[in-house]
Amino acid sequence: MTRLFLLLCLWLSLWSRNVLGSILAIDYGADFIKASLMKPGQPFDVLLNRDSKRKIQSTVGWKKNDRLFGSDAAAIAGRFPQDTFPSLKFLQAAPYESEAVSFYTSVSTADVVKTERGTVALRRSDGTEWSVEELIAMQFAYVRDLAESTAGEKVYDVIVTVPPYYTQFERDAVVDAIEISALRTLALINDGTAVAVNYAMTRTFPEPEYHVIFDAGASSIRATVVEFASVPGEGRPKSNKDATQITVHGVGYDRYTGGTELDRRLRDLMLSDFQKRYKRDISIDKRAMAKLWKEAGRVKAILSANTEAIATIESLAFEIDYKAKFTRAGFEAACKDLKSRYAVPILEALARAGLKLENVTSVILTGGSSRTPMIQDAVKAAVGADKIAQNVNADEAAVLGAALHGAGLSRQFKTKDIRISDIGPYDIQVSYQAEAKNPGARPRTINTLVFPSGSKTGTKKTLTFKRQNDFSVKLAYKAPPAPGFPTEFLEADIVGVSEAIQNITEAGATDPVVKATVMLSESGFASVRDAIVTGEFKDESITGKLKDLFGKGSSSSQSVDETTADVGTAEEETASETATSSAAEASATVVKAKEPISLEIEVKFPTIPPMSVNQKRAGRDRLLAIDAEENAKRKREEARNTLEAYIYKLRDLLSEESSDAPFMKCSQESERKALAAKVEETLAWLQDHGDDADTIQYIDKRTALESLERPIVHRYKEIEEFPKALNNSQMWNWSTRLFLTEAKQNLTKELETGTVGKYTKEELEELEKTLKEHEAWLNEWVEKQKKVKMNEDPVILASEMRARAKVLENHLQKLVKKRPPKAPKKSTTSTSSTAGSEETTAESATSSTAKGSSTPSAHDGHGHDEL
Ligand SMILES: *[C@@H]1O[C@H](CO)[C@@H](O)[C@H](O)[C@H]1NC(C)=O
Ligand SMILES: *[C@@H]1O[C@H](CO)[C@@H](O)[C@H](O)[C@H]1NC(C)=O
Ligand SMILES: *[C@@H]1O[C@H](CO)[C@@H](O)[C@H](O)[C@H]1NC(C)=O
Ligand SMILES: *[C@@H]1O[C@H](CO)[C@@H](O)[C@H](O)[C@H]1NC(C)=O
Ligand SMILES: *[C@@H]1O[C@H](CO)[C@@H](O)[C@H](O)[C@H]1NC(C)=O
Repeated sequence: MTRLFLLLCLWLSLWSRNVLGSILAIDYGADFIKASLMKPGQPFDVLLNRDSKRKIQSTVGWKKNDRLFGSDAAAIAGRFPQDTFPSLKFLQAAPYESEAVSFYTSVSTADVVKTERGTVALRRSDGTEWSVEELIAMQFAYVRDLAESTAGEKVYDVIVTVPPYYTQFERDAVVDAIEISALRTLALINDGTAVAVNYAMTRTFPEPEYHVIFDAGASSIRATVVEFASVPGEGRPKSNKDATQITVHGVGYDRYTGGTELDRRLRDLMLSDFQKRYKRDISIDKRAMAKLWKEAGRVKAILSANTEAIATIESLAFEIDYKAKFTRAGFEAACKDLKSRYAVPILEALARAGLKLENVTSVILTGGSSRTPMIQDAVKAAVGADKIAQNVNADEAAVLGAALHGAGLSRQFKTKDIRISDIGPYDIQVSYQAEAKNPGARPRTINTLVFPSGSKTGTKKTLTFKRQNDFSVKLAYKAPPAPGFPTEFLEADIVGVSEAIQNITEAGATDPVVKATVMLSESGFASVRDAIVTGEFKDESITGKLKDLFGKGSSSSQSVDETTADVGTAEEETASETATSSAAEASATVVKAKEPISLEIEVKFPTIPPMSVNQKRAGRDRLLAIDAEENAKRKREEARNTLEAYIYKLRDLLSEESSDAPFMKCSQESERKALAAKVEETLAWLQDHGDDADTIQYIDKRTALESLERPIVHRYKEIEEFPKALNNSQMWNWSTRLFLTEAKQNLTKELETGTVGKYTKEELEELEKTLKEHEAWLNEWVEKQKKVKMNEDPVILASEMRARAKVLENHLQKLVKKRPPKAPKKSTTSTSSTAGSEETTAESATSSTAKGSSTPSAHDGHGHDEL
């Protein structure tokens, strides 16, 4: 149990965790990454890349030792074709011998190698290998850094979009990359569903409506049939607004018919044109192929808006500058076979949803490739131009919808109440070996379809087994979910059965059975959640016996047909219904085991395993090592640049012509000579060793120069500070004097009238003594300071002057803030008029001090700071 729990934490992450803080949404595409940040109190928008673009090219690359992302990485593909890794989405969890990988190698110049898990890694030109998960984790971390600099705080939680057809293998690969990047998975969301959330955010649905989200991306085309409806907004207290229910009814897809395939067709047109014209094979020339690839993307974009475009590639190969004209017609002819496929996902999705086109209000086009005329035409032809809705931001709808959904999950944002009911697109079955009836019998495999294609996500099913011993169940797709992908994805060994059965039988139970719960999570993961042994206990109470007598037969909700004893009766129940059904069971005559016994489940991955904890940790360490290296490199560059800039600044100062310049005024000839010598020495050192020195050396060199400049700077600063400090001293000098004069007058008056004043004679004398000391010190040192030349060190520091003035200020403050002595209780009216309340007395003492002058009030204690 604990073990399974741990596994789930690591492997699925916990979806329902309480999240506080910003939420990052990533729409991870084969061509572009879009990201959005939800931060309480911050406007909600798409994250901008460092170049202020709203999307990030989905490429990682290395220019020698410098790691690059986005368009910087894509830009170097022609020079470093083996160190540039685009379109990694195609490779998520792809088995080395799958169609996905062969497709990838036909579009990318990267070297693909096999990992120990049977998936792929990419090999750099220096021989280092990076798993797809690690490379994608780098991109996630890059996006996280962007988000953190926008949010101004750490960002931990992320929701990532995936195509609805993503299998468990691929979903695991996404989550593994998230974990390697040190983010936490809030959820995965199918991209069509995310677009639906974004669509629903600004709309209401008085009547239920069906729409098709048609998402034409770089990697693939998918269609999602969704129903939007208003439902009562219960569940959220004090909210009588309706909620919007989004129900996915069907999906259709074509895994490899996206924008990338179009690029590939165009690239091949260019390639064959080149080969025909120059009679040379460049298909094995990685640089040339990378250049062609880049140009194909550019030409495709031009052909979306124009009927022809010129491809130009300088020095493509053999020092040939390639130039050729391509027409949209020619391009479309090369893609003729694709045209008939574009709208198929829509029709498949409708068929799976059991709907017709006339049931659909609109077909919403999204995804970067939905702008391609060929694709638009095909969709228009299939569904009718009037059905097409263009009112959705094609590029950003998915990431914004994902962010909104993430915000809804975290419950710390006030967002519109939108509920999602999504589906799994594949038949998922549980298979296990039947318990042998007699020792020699051939084992029989039994398959039970637990989540048929179209099953709702976020549901559980309970399987009941009549078993005496440990056994294992496998979760598998009924058919390979994509070419080259395996069917089985998870195996759960259920352990401790015989002992648990013995225990529960000893406790008085009869007919013990094993119940296993399988779950299809909101994020599309199927798992075996738990397994228990339970049995029936006779109710020994009188009422129980009576009920037993009358109600036989109708009592058991549990009878398992002996002939199919092994076959689980799969009862569907949603997570929220569990409580209700167990309450109903409890009221039956024959009650269930008082305490069902939990069984241990050991999870194994029979085919493509997700990354193990150790593999992920190792991946994270590798990424951290690169980060550390890049940081050190950045620091070194900074240190070097600072040193260089400092040297040039010193040179400027030293070559100053005017003797009025502060640097000149405050320095002596000998000091300037020493500094100039050091500057030249450092410059020479930079020329000789500047390229291979380390950070500390740059810093040391700068420190050595600074120690020569510092006395000069110091003098100059003191000269600037001196008048201000003197002004401050005199201000307190003057304020104190004013206070004393008035207080003494009051004292005299009080002595005359025989009243009790606020201050005693001694107090005033003490203050006067402090004032005199201050004046004496000030007079003496100001005189001395006046004799000091500008290029000599000052004899008193501004800081010391301020400290001395502070002593006087504090003394004055103490008296001003003093509470007046309590007037004698039975006082006459004349005395009480002078006493007043404590506060007003203190107040008035101050105001009279400041009266008639611009001197800041001593009372607030800030007077000196404001100067
Ligand atoms: C779909 O349209 C058909 C024909 O107009 C209609 O009979 C059917 O009820 C509609 N289905 C739904 C779910 O609205
Ligand atoms: C069965 O009972 C024994 C004794 O109480 C206990 O140690 C053991 O853990 C139990 N086994 C299971 C599977 O519950
Ligand atoms: C000194 O303080 C007075 C009053 O606050 C101000 O007007 C004057 O400019 C100050 N002089 C200097 C040198 O800071
Ligand atoms: C301090 O104030 C007194 C009285 O206003 C004045 O005579 C004296 O010169 C002042 N001292 C200095 C150093 O400004
Ligand atoms: C002097 O007396 C007047 C009148 O009572 C009072 O307002 C003022 O605060 C006193 N001044 C000092 C410095 O105590």
